Amino acid sequence: MVLTGAGMSAESGVPTFRGESGLWRSYRPEELATPEAFSRDPLLVWEWYAWRRGLIAACEPNPGHTALARFMLRPSRTTTLVTQNVDGLHTRALERAHQEEPTGGGGLATPGEIPEGARAIEVHGTIAGDRCSECHLRSAAVPVDLTSVDTLPRCTECGGLLRPDVVWFGEALDEAVLSAAFEAAGNADVCLVAGTSAVVHPAASVPLATLHNGGDLIEVNPESTPLSRHARVRLAGPSGEVLPALLDPLG
Ligand code: OAD
Repeated sequence: MVLTGAGMSAESGVPTFRGESGLWRSYRPEELATPEAFSRDPLLVWEWYAWRRGLIAACEPNPGHTALARFMLRPSRTTTLVTQNVDGLHTRALERAHQEEPTGGGGLATPGEIPEGARAIEVHGTIAGDRCSECHLRSAAVPVDLTSVDTLPRCTECGGLLRPDVVWFGEALDEAVLSAAFEAAGNADVCLVAGTSAVVHPAASVPLATLHNGGDLIEVNPESTPLSRHARVRLAGPSGEVLPALLDPLG
């Protein structure tokens, strides 16, 4: 299995959260990424997410996403990808790799939809979706009119304010999604962890399930993290360079 974090998308131009130029250096999580912040000032929260949506829309998957997508689409592989990223770049890379080579190139999976097992499990949700803050109904993201709080998008069912479909601080992760992640980790021979500071739980605990069941950890990160001391192999470089070097020869 593979667990990824914000560092995976750094080379695509998506800012990470921590570190020298991380988002949390310039913004306060409690003012932008909590349910309380949304109740207090939904316009401010939407301004921030609309900015991030625009930024992410202009980014492309990098060679790390592509190498991982190609690796996962081999029919002989049973790799589960769990990501903390809400940017959808893994899905875009998977779709692209699937379109480019659905049947050829050494037997990639069949054409059509990306196979169920090769989809990314997005434990922190997706910025490309909306969710009603009242009745929790999910929908595709609609354009956001930031003129005032009265023009913000509302639920078509109950009229409640829509919010981005991401997990905020203080919120529980979706139970089914989280248990799928832990199950994959528990069954894995190897957990490859790329681009996460491994400080936000429960996601950061997922690789421990692999270790607990006798599997190995490979870490790809220029910096060390709380997981580093458990890693059998540490590849201290950017994922956009390390993952193609590691996975393409295996593919
Ligand atoms: P962080 O911003 O905490 O950590 C990014 C990690 O990526 C750091 O360990 C960097 O050293 C590493 N890194 C930077 N550039 C890299 C590169 N090119 N290749 C590989 N690694 C690189 O991001 P996350 O660990 O994903 O949650 O953060 C976890 C959660 O905290 C996020 O999902 C988000 C955030 O608050 C919520 O919003 C709920």
